[in-house]
Amino acid sequence: PEGLRELLLSRIADVPDYPKPGVVFKDITPLLADPAAFGALTDAFAALCERYAADKVVGLEARGFILAAPVAVRAGIGFVPVRKAGKLPGATLRQAYDLEYGTAEIEIHADALKPGDRVLVIDDVLATGGTAEASLELIRRAGAEVAGVAVLLELGFLAGRQRLEAGLKGAPAEALITV
Ligand code: PRP
Ligand code: MG
Repeated sequence: PEGLRELLLSRIADVPDYPKPGVVFKDITPLLADPAAFGALTDAFAALCERYAADKVVGLEARGFILAAPVAVRAGIGFVPVRKAGKLPGATLRQAYDLEYGTAEIEIHADALKPGDRVLVIDDVLATGGTAEASLELIRRAGAEVAGVAVLLELGFLAGRQRLEAGLKGAPAEALITV
Protein backbone atom coordinates (compact mmCIF):
# COMPACT_ATOMS: atom_id res chain seq x y z
CA PRO A 1 0.00 0.00 0.00
CA GLU A 2 0.89 3.64 -0.54
CA GLY A 3 3.35 4.93 2.01
CA LEU A 4 3.82 1.66 3.89
CA ARG A 5 7.59 1.81 3.67
CA GLU A 6 7.65 5.42 4.90
CA LEU A 7 5.27 4.62 7.79
CA LEU A 8 7.34 1.65 8.92
CA LEU A 9 10.67 3.44 8.49
CA SER A 10 9.41 6.37 10.55
CA ARG A 11 8.76 4.00 13.46
CA ILE A 12 12.23 2.41 13.53
CA ALA A 13 14.71 4.30 15.67
CA ASP A 14 18.46 4.41 15.00
CA VAL A 15 20.42 3.95 18.22
CA PRO A 16 24.10 4.78 17.66
CA ASP A 17 26.84 2.82 19.40
CA TYR A 18 24.55 0.04 20.62
CA PRO A 19 25.31 -2.71 21.56
CA LYS A 20 28.87 -1.56 20.95
CA PRO A 21 30.73 1.46 19.55
CA GLY A 22 30.31 1.92 15.79
CA VAL A 23 27.14 -0.16 15.49
CA VAL A 24 23.81 1.56 14.76
CA PHE A 25 21.05 -0.53 16.36
CA LYS A 26 17.66 -0.62 14.62
CA ASP A 27 15.08 -0.32 17.41
CA ILE A 28 11.59 -1.51 16.42
CA THR A 29 9.93 -0.78 19.76
CA PRO A 30 8.32 2.49 18.49
CA LEU A 31 6.71 0.48 15.69
CA LEU A 32 5.39 -2.12 18.13
CA ALA A 33 3.89 0.66 20.25
CA ASP A 34 1.96 2.13 17.30
CA PRO A 35 -1.09 0.00 16.48
CA ALA A 36 -1.53 1.57 13.02
CA ALA A 37 2.04 0.76 12.01
CA PHE A 38 2.11 -2.68 13.68
CA GLY A 39 -1.25 -3.48 12.06
CA ALA A 40 -0.04 -2.38 8.62
CA LEU A 41 3.10 -4.49 9.04
CA THR A 42 1.03 -7.50 10.08
CA ASP A 43 -1.25 -7.04 7.05
CA ALA A 44 1.73 -6.80 4.70
CA PHE A 45 3.29 -10.00 6.03
CA ALA A 46 -0.08 -11.78 5.96
CA ALA A 47 -0.45 -10.81 2.28
CA LEU A 48 2.92 -12.50 1.63
CA CYS A 49 1.63 -15.66 3.32
CA GLU A 50 -1.20 -15.68 0.83
CA ARG A 51 0.98 -14.77 -2.18
CA TYR A 52 3.42 -17.61 -1.47
CA ALA A 53 0.73 -20.09 -0.35
CA ALA A 54 2.30 -20.58 3.07
CA ASP A 55 0.58 -22.89 5.52
CA LYS A 56 2.94 -22.28 8.46
CA VAL A 57 4.69 -19.20 9.80
CA VAL A 58 8.06 -19.67 11.51
CA GLY A 59 9.15 -16.85 13.81
CA LEU A 60 12.78 -16.50 14.90
CA GLU A 61 13.37 -15.88 18.60
CA ALA A 62 13.16 -13.27 20.00
CA ARG A 63 12.12 -10.28 17.90
CA GLY A 64 10.80 -12.48 15.11
CA PHE A 65 8.29 -13.95 17.57
CA ILE A 66 6.69 -10.56 18.15
CA LEU A 67 6.21 -9.91 14.44
CA ALA A 68 5.33 -13.42 13.27
CA ALA A 69 2.71 -14.47 15.83
CA PRO A 70 0.06 -11.89 14.84
CA VAL A 71 0.75 -12.67 11.17
CA ALA A 72 -0.09 -16.33 11.73
CA VAL A 73 -3.36 -15.35 13.40
CA ARG A 74 -4.20 -12.83 10.68
CA ALA A 75 -3.38 -15.32 7.91
CA GLY A 76 -5.28 -18.12 9.63
CA ILE A 77 -2.29 -20.50 9.68
CA GLY A 78 -0.14 -22.05 12.41
CA PHE A 79 2.78 -20.42 14.20
CA VAL A 80 5.96 -22.44 14.81
CA PRO A 81 8.78 -21.07 16.97
CA VAL A 82 12.46 -21.43 16.14
CA ARG A 83 14.16 -20.92 19.49
CA LYS A 84 17.66 -20.40 20.78
CA ALA A 85 19.03 -23.79 21.84
CA GLY A 86 17.83 -25.34 25.08
CA LYS A 87 14.39 -23.71 25.33
CA LEU A 88 12.09 -26.19 23.59
CA PRO A 89 10.86 -29.11 25.74
CA GLY A 90 10.35 -31.82 23.11
CA ALA A 91 12.64 -33.62 20.70
CA THR A 92 14.38 -31.02 18.55
CA LEU A 93 16.52 -30.47 15.51
CA ARG A 94 19.45 -28.14 16.21
CA GLN A 95 21.45 -25.97 13.82
CA ALA A 96 24.62 -23.99 14.51
CA TYR A 97 25.43 -20.72 12.76
CA ASP A 98 28.27 -18.23 12.82
CA LEU A 99 28.20 -14.99 14.72
CA GLU A 100 30.73 -12.19 14.41
CA TYR A 101 32.60 -13.91 17.26
CA GLY A 102 31.87 -17.59 17.81
CA THR A 103 28.72 -19.51 17.03
CA ALA A 104 25.11 -19.80 18.19
CA GLU A 105 22.53 -22.56 17.91
CA ILE A 106 18.82 -22.57 17.19
CA GLU A 107 16.25 -25.34 17.39
CA ILE A 108 12.84 -26.39 16.16
CA HIS A 109 10.59 -29.13 17.48
CA ALA A 110 11.27 -32.16 15.31
CA ASP A 111 7.54 -32.79 14.79
CA ALA A 112 6.48 -29.14 14.28
CA LEU A 113 6.36 -29.39 10.49
CA LYS A 114 5.19 -32.12 8.17
CA PRO A 115 6.32 -33.06 4.68
CA GLY A 116 4.62 -30.77 2.19
CA ASP A 117 4.18 -27.90 4.65
CA ARG A 118 5.08 -24.58 3.00
CA VAL A 119 6.79 -22.34 5.53
CA LEU A 120 7.26 -18.58 5.53
CA VAL A 121 10.08 -17.45 7.85
CA ILE A 122 9.54 -14.05 9.47
CA ASP A 123 12.12 -11.97 11.32
CA ASP A 124 12.68 -8.31 12.06
CA VAL A 125 16.10 -7.78 10.50
CA LEU A 126 18.15 -9.51 7.80
CA ALA A 127 21.74 -8.58 8.61
CA THR A 128 24.48 -11.11 7.74
CA GLY A 129 21.79 -13.72 7.05
CA GLY A 130 23.25 -16.27 9.44
CA THR A 131 20.10 -16.63 11.56
CA ALA A 132 17.73 -16.92 8.60
CA GLU A 133 20.06 -19.30 6.77
CA ALA A 134 20.13 -21.64 9.79
CA SER A 135 16.32 -21.52 10.00
CA LEU A 136 16.02 -22.61 6.35
CA GLU A 137 18.29 -25.54 7.14
CA LEU A 138 16.01 -26.54 10.04
CA ILE A 139 12.86 -26.30 7.93
CA ARG A 140 14.34 -28.55 5.26
CA ARG A 141 15.69 -31.02 7.83
CA ALA A 142 12.19 -31.10 9.38
CA GLY A 143 10.92 -32.24 5.98
CA ALA A 144 9.02 -29.10 4.97
CA GLU A 145 9.30 -26.69 2.06
CA VAL A 146 10.52 -23.10 2.26
CA ALA A 147 7.83 -20.77 0.91
CA GLY A 148 10.07 -17.76 1.54
CA VAL A 149 11.73 -15.43 4.01
CA ALA A 150 10.15 -12.11 4.94
CA VAL A 151 11.77 -9.40 7.03
CA LEU A 152 10.84 -5.91 8.08
CA LEU A 153 14.30 -4.50 7.45
CA GLU A 154 17.20 -5.67 5.29
CA LEU A 155 20.66 -4.23 5.87
CA GLY A 156 21.82 -4.48 2.28
CA PHE A 157 25.46 -3.63 2.99
CA LEU A 158 25.84 -6.87 5.00
CA ALA A 159 24.89 -9.02 2.00
CA GLY A 160 22.59 -11.35 3.91
CA ARG A 161 20.52 -11.88 0.77
CA GLN A 162 23.52 -13.41 -1.01
CA ARG A 163 24.17 -15.69 1.96
CA LEU A 164 20.56 -16.92 1.81
CA GLU A 165 20.57 -17.68 -1.88
CA ALA A 166 21.62 -21.34 -1.68
CA GLY A 167 19.20 -22.11 1.16
CA LEU A 168 16.26 -20.44 -0.57
CA LYS A 169 16.58 -22.66 -3.66
CA GLY A 170 14.61 -20.14 -5.69
CA ALA A 171 12.10 -19.20 -2.97
CA PRO A 172 11.69 -15.44 -2.47
CA ALA A 173 13.31 -13.22 0.15
CA GLU A 174 11.12 -10.17 0.78
CA ALA A 175 12.18 -7.08 2.71
CA LEU A 176 9.59 -4.38 3.37
CA ILE A 177 12.46 -1.90 3.83
CA THR A 178 16.02 -2.12 2.54
CA VAL A 179 18.71 0.25 3.73
C1 PRP B 1 19.03 -10.20 15.52
C2 PRP B 1 17.83 -9.90 14.64
C3 PRP B 1 17.85 -11.04 13.65
C4 PRP B 1 19.33 -11.34 13.51
C5 PRP B 1 19.87 -10.79 12.22
O1 PRP B 1 18.68 -11.18 16.45
O2 PRP B 1 16.64 -9.91 15.42
O3 PRP B 1 17.20 -12.20 14.18
O4 PRP B 1 19.99 -10.70 14.62
O5 PRP B 1 21.25 -10.99 12.15
P1 PRP B 1 21.93 -11.93 11.09
O6 PRP B 1 21.20 -11.75 9.79
O7 PRP B 1 23.33 -11.44 11.04
O8 PRP B 1 21.81 -13.35 11.59
P2 PRP B 1 19.44 -11.44 17.83
O9 PRP B 1 19.66 -12.90 17.96
O10 PRP B 1 20.62 -10.54 17.92
O11 PRP B 1 18.46 -10.90 18.96
P3 PRP B 1 16.92 -11.16 19.34
O12 PRP B 1 16.88 -12.38 20.20
O13 PRP B 1 16.55 -9.89 20.09
O14 PRP B 1 16.07 -11.31 18.11
MG1 MG C 1 16.58 -11.91 16.21
